[in-house]
Amino acid sequence: MKEFRGKTAFITGGASGIGLGMARAFGHAGMNVVLADIDDKLAKDVAEKLAAEQIKAVGVRCDVSEHASVREAALEAVSAFGKVHVVCNNAGVAVGGPIGTVKDKDWDWIIDVNLKGVVYGTETFVPLIKSHGEGGHIASTASMAGMIAPAGMEPYTATKFAVVAMSEGWAQQLAPLNIGVSVLCPGFVKTRIHESGRARQDKYGGQGDVDALGNGPNEAAQMVLSGIDPDIVGKRVLEAVRDNDLYIFTHPMFKDFVQARFAGIMAGFDKAAQSEALKSVKEWAPVVPRAQQ
Ligand SMILES: NC(=O)c1ccc[n+]([C@@H]2O[C@H](COP(=O)([O-])OP(=O)(O)OC[C@H]3O[C@@H](n4cnc5c(N)ncnc54)[C@H](O)[C@@H]3O)[C@@H](O)[C@H]2O)c1
Repeated sequence: MKEFRGKTAFITGGASGIGLGMARAFGHAGMNVVLADIDDKLAKDVAEKLAAEQIKAVGVRCDVSEHASVREAALEAVSAFGKVHVVCNNAGVAVGGPIGTVKDKDWDWIIDVNLKGVVYGTETFVPLIKSHGEGGHIASTASMAGMIAPAGMEPYTATKFAVVAMSEGWAQQLAPLNIGVSVLCPGFVKTRIHESGRARQDKYGGQGDVDALGNGPNEAAQMVLSGIDPDIVGKRVLEAVRDNDLYIFTHPMFKDFVQARFAGIMAGFDKAAQSEALKSVKEWAPVVPRAQQ
């Protein structure tokens, strides 16, 4: 997307942290912004504050773990601003811990919010963007934990790797419709993600502490609170959406960690190429479907 002025961005988890940073960046670029958040009171308060920065913003209730709630929020966005062009599937929560310590309900919570919430946002808005024909962009928030997998963060990394994978597929599906796709993979950003238990719905056990990042709560909080400013992340997302970049990184120093992961994967392929067991394979199925060859 090259032109932002007068268009609309719908941002889940828009009332806090990275979502709010994106709202500011898109708002200052002349877009209307919809802050879609489970904390609708905060979303509405924050929308009023953005108005003082000359940004046209509304706050709406949206629980991304429920498809119907995302659809309702979309209707409110359309009734406020007519059309939506940019969708930021950003709402997310954090759970981690050693094997056997993460409760079933926490697994359900993080999968429903971080993974299915992204699916619901995309499925709700793609037909709407398609119908107005002006093009658009889907920017979903994964994490550096969608590229590398630190021990003890498996519930979180499982959902964030999924967001990266879905975005890679959607980019191919949506390019012909003039809908760009990006996946945001930040390192630590100074937000309230370490307190995500505050947004846990009753169906997942209600509000309270969760061992957010697989470390002691204080250690996790310290890492988050030493992160970069979410407004900078918002500006980075704006420039990447303008350039239609698939991968949005904010912490260049993590490149070595991603390279180390890829080196391990490549070494696995090298072992396969020399494998005695595989020498007996006479014919391989095609790498891409025959129809596309
Ligand atoms: N802060 C970091 O270091 C960091 C790093 C990488 C990725 N992320 C990702 O960034 C995204 C935003 O998180 P943040 O760091 O700004 O945290 P945050 O806690 O400050 O903001 C998250 C927002 O999402 C909302 N939310 C929670 N559950 C929701 C639900 N079911 N439906 C709708 N809204 C809901 C919260 O009310 C809150 O306003 C998340 O996807 C997170 O995983 C954060």
